[in-house]
Parts: sequence; structure tokens; C-alpha cells
Amino acid sequence: MDNVITVDDRLSAQQAQRLITQGNQLVWQGDFHHAKQLLAALKRPRKAATFQQYRNHQADQARRLNSLLIAIDDQYVVPLRRAPDVAQACREAYGAHGSPRLIPLRELLGVIGAHQLCRRGIAIPALDERIHPHYGVFAPTRPEYVELAAIQPLPKATTAFDIGTGTGVLAALLARRGLQVIATDTSNRAIACAEDNLERLGQTGRVEVMEQDLFPPGRADLVVCNPPWIPARPITTLDHAVYDENGRMLQGWLDGLAGHLTPNGEGWLILSDLAEHLGLRTRAELVAAIGRANLRVAGRAHVVPEHRKAKDSRDPLHWARVKEVTSLWRLKVS
Ligand SMILES: C[S@@+](CC[C@H](N)C(=O)[O-])C[C@H]1O[C@@H](n2cnc3c(N)ncnc32)[C@H](O)[C@@H]1O
Repeated sequence: MDNVITVDDRLSAQQAQRLITQGNQLVWQGDFHHAKQLLAALKRPRKAATFQQYRNHQADQARRLNSLLIAIDDQYVVPLRRAPDVAQACREAYGAHGSPRLIPLRELLGVIGAHQLCRRGIAIPALDERIHPHYGVFAPTRPEYVELAAIQPLPKATTAFDIGTGTGVLAALLARRGLQVIATDTSNRAIACAEDNLERLGQTGRVEVMEQDLFPPGRADLVVCNPPWIPARPITTLDHAVYDENGRMLQGWLDGLAGHLTPNGEGWLILSDLAEHLGLRTRAELVAAIGRANLRVAGRAHVVPEHRKAKDSRDPLHWARVKEVTSLWRLKVS
């Protein structure tokens, strides 16, 4: 079990590194901004040539940075000098009522960032509206794939399922296009978030949101899915929207699709090919999985996602991202 040590502004970054490497947890009692500076100084530069090394680095980084803790009381007040008011951000992430406890400063900064993003919202040109992602819900910060779904010709359809709805952005789009939608997700944060967004967009009459693994009962004319696209083990709970261990969701969606489409119905799979560039899945494996599920490809449209963050060519994801293409695969029952 780790030791818990109380520390303050007198601690240097080097001393902190050493204590953490020895397995200690540090409870900060100094100035809030100094704690943020210390956290930044504890980050280690990546030296990863492969995706697996990159993930190992991320796991190690998360473990070490999460060793810097701060106290928070039951009203979500941080009793530190120059601490910001985080009560609303914490209520959104942890619920209305807190309890006195220690949390990693890194996690609290994530909660604050999520609160700011949720307030600001993300402009979705295809909807001509903003979508407001909750803490822990996949944020469509690169919304080109929504455009892809917006311009695809609809099959003859009145009903749709949106599997893994996240913020509800695709469900809102399908509703705008005149369909009656059932949207599912396994994350209760996503369910609450989708309900919020759909209400704001005036689409609750057209979309039913359901906490459900993959498909709701029944069939629909159009079944859409934008699954997590990297088939690797999630490290943090926030990873679940992007990392799909062993491609479970993708495989489950493909395997169940034929049984949930009406005759002449279409499945729309929105999938980045990043996993292919990282050597985690081949195109041939994807095409074979489509065939095994008794499906055929009726068409495919692409978009090149825009990466707004500064590109770092030492990052093993960088070169894969440069080549990344997101496709909308139109699938029909063979
Ligand atoms: C990449 S996000 C896409 C969210 C949203 N559809 C969008 O396009 O922005 C994938 C979503 O699938 C959800 N998910 C993962 N496994 C699932 C499952 N077995 N059944 C339903 N939803 C799932 C995640 O919680 C997450 O919200």
C-alpha cells in the first residue's frame, strides 16, 4: 500500500518525482497554482516508437500524475490558497452531493476542463447548433463525421437506431432528417448528456434514449454506429469512448446488424482507419468481419479528419493520424 505524505510549496519537482517513484501519494497543502505547476513539471516526455510503448507510457504517466492529491470537502470546496470555485464543475461530474475526500489534481483539472467545454459547447455545422458534452462523454470536437452522415442519401426510411449515441449528436441529425430514432448507450453519463442535448434541440419527441448494450429490441430502416475506433484496452474510464477492447462493440454491432434491419434497411458504420495505420487491425479483417455477419458493402464515403492540435512527429500516433481517414460504410444484408 502507498504511503500518504503531506507536502506544500517547499517541495521541488525533483523531490516530488523521487517520492512518487518510491510509491508515495502526495497530498498538496500549498498554493493551488503552484500545485498545477508541479503537476506540469512531473510530466515525462514520451519516448515511444510503437503504439504499445505509447500506451505503456500513458499508463505510467497517469499512475504517477495521479499521485498528486488534493482535498475536497462535501460542498466541493478546495481549501487551498488561490483555489478556484469548482463546485459547479464537480456537481456536474460527481453528482449533487459530495463527501470529503482526496482526489488527484489531474482528475480535478479534467473535471474543470469538461465543465468549460460543456458550457461553451461545440459548433456542429451539420446541425447549425452547438452540442454540449458532459464530463466523461465522447465530445465531437472533430465533427467532420457528422457532416458525412448529413450528406449521405437516406434509404427509404422512417425509423432509425443510433447505437452508442454519446452526446446524441447523430440521433439529433437523424431526427432533423425526419426519422423517428431510438438512441442507445451503455454509459449513464452519455444517456443523461444525450437527453440534455436533444431537449435543448427540441428533438425529444423524435428521439427515445435508452440505456442498453448495443441494440434496442426490434428493427429499424437505418441503424447508425460510430463505435470507439481503437481496438485496445482502455486505461482510464474516460478512454471507453475511444478504446474498444478486442473490437467488442464493432464486432457486436456487425454481428447483430442483420437481425435489427428491416428488409432493404441500411447500416451506417462510421469508422476511422487509425487502427489500420497503427497495425491493430487490417482492412482485410474488417471486410471479412462484414462478410461473416451476412452483410455487403453498398457504398462508402470518406472524410479526412482535421487535427487541430499541434502535430508532434515524435508521437507514434502522429504519423498514423496524418494518414487517418474516417469512412461511412453503407451496409446491407447480403
Ligand atoms: C466514439 S463514441 C460515439 C458517440 C456518438 N455516437 C458520436 O458519434 O459522437 C462511442 C460511444 O459508444 C458507447 N458504447 C460503447 N460500447 C457500447 C455498447 N456495447 N453499447 C452501446 N453503446 C456503447 C460509448 O459509451 C460512447 O458513447
